[in-house]
Amino acid sequence: MEAIRWRDNALYLLDQTRLPAEERWLKYTDYRQVARAIETMVVRGAPAIGVTAGYAMALAAREIGDHPDFLDAMVKAKELLAATRPTAVNLFWALERMERCWRTHGAGLPRLEAEARAIHQEDIRMNQDMGRAGAELVPQGARILTHCNAGALATGGYGTALGVIRAAHSQGKVSMVYADETRPLLQGARLTAYELARDQIPVTLICDNMAGALMAQGKVDLVVVGCDRMAANGDFANKIGTYSLAVLAKHHGIPFYTALPSSTIDLSLPDGGQIPVEERAGEEISSFAGARTGPGGVPTWNPAFDVTPHQLLTAVITERGVLRPPFAQGLSKFLT
Ligand code: MRU
Repeated sequence: MEAIRWRDNALYLLDQTRLPAEERWLKYTDYRQVARAIETMVVRGAPAIGVTAGYAMALAAREIGDHPDFLDAMVKAKELLAATRPTAVNLFWALERMERCWRTHGAGLPRLEAEARAIHQEDIRMNQDMGRAGAELVPQGARILTHCNAGALATGGYGTALGVIRAAHSQGKVSMVYADETRPLLQGARLTAYELARDQIPVTLICDNMAGALMAQGKVDLVVVGCDRMAANGDFANKIGTYSLAVLAKHHGIPFYTALPSSTIDLSLPDGGQIPVEERAGEEISSFAGARTGPGGVPTWNPAFDVTPHQLLTAVITERGVLRPPFAQGLSKFLT
């Protein structure tokens, strides 16, 4: 399963706003439209946003061409893409990497395309490596709880949290995956349940507010989630609701893991307090499937992410292996 393709100088995105009802691929040749696709969540998930931004910069370079204002125009395109979604650091990581490339090689389009493709391929490899590393943590017959979608759809392919689940499933270790529906945009119901069912990995869908009861009944052996940005001390942002799950897991003595590639680590932030958390439109929570569910005029608060303190994490799963506390040392060593 994949959500991003690059063919004949064009970017194709699987429209994730339509899943699972419809599998519709959209074609992009204009980086401005790609920025809009990130904003409106046609493509979403931290690594997938980074991969998409890489291709968007290749599209920008094609449009701007060998022009005296090439560098200025590229910086403007980069700024437009950087203003789409603030939390996932992979977006900024990929844009910086593309900028290093165009500053070194100028308007050399094949070089920029190759860099974008490299970001994409490396992401898939990192997911496969972290899948193998994370599968070691999964016991035989495991019942695993996950939140949001950290799968092939959220990455270049294979997935981070779902990559761990895929690898463990291929070793015959997974007896059930519980997918939180993930209000308000239902990435767990629409995307994770869909992705796992397609791969014939056993999955049960639950509402977010059922996770505690499920744990209390002894039906969860471990929790594994993705990550949008991890600060230097191991605090991390992920889809809203992750923090509540981590607290619940701690209360019930259940191991709680996050899986992430190195492109999701932001050592410039000492702790999670500095991670910018995106707030989205109130209509996402005051209505459901187009119908109003909350009374008019009542204020809403709709943060798309929350920050889980590192003390609640059992371990961090990366492409280079599993990091255990203290995370600060492990993370800085990992990136140097
Ligand atoms: O708002 P989204 O759908 O982009 O949020 C996605 C998540 O929170 C994922 O868990 C995270 O990006 C990790 S994806 C491998």
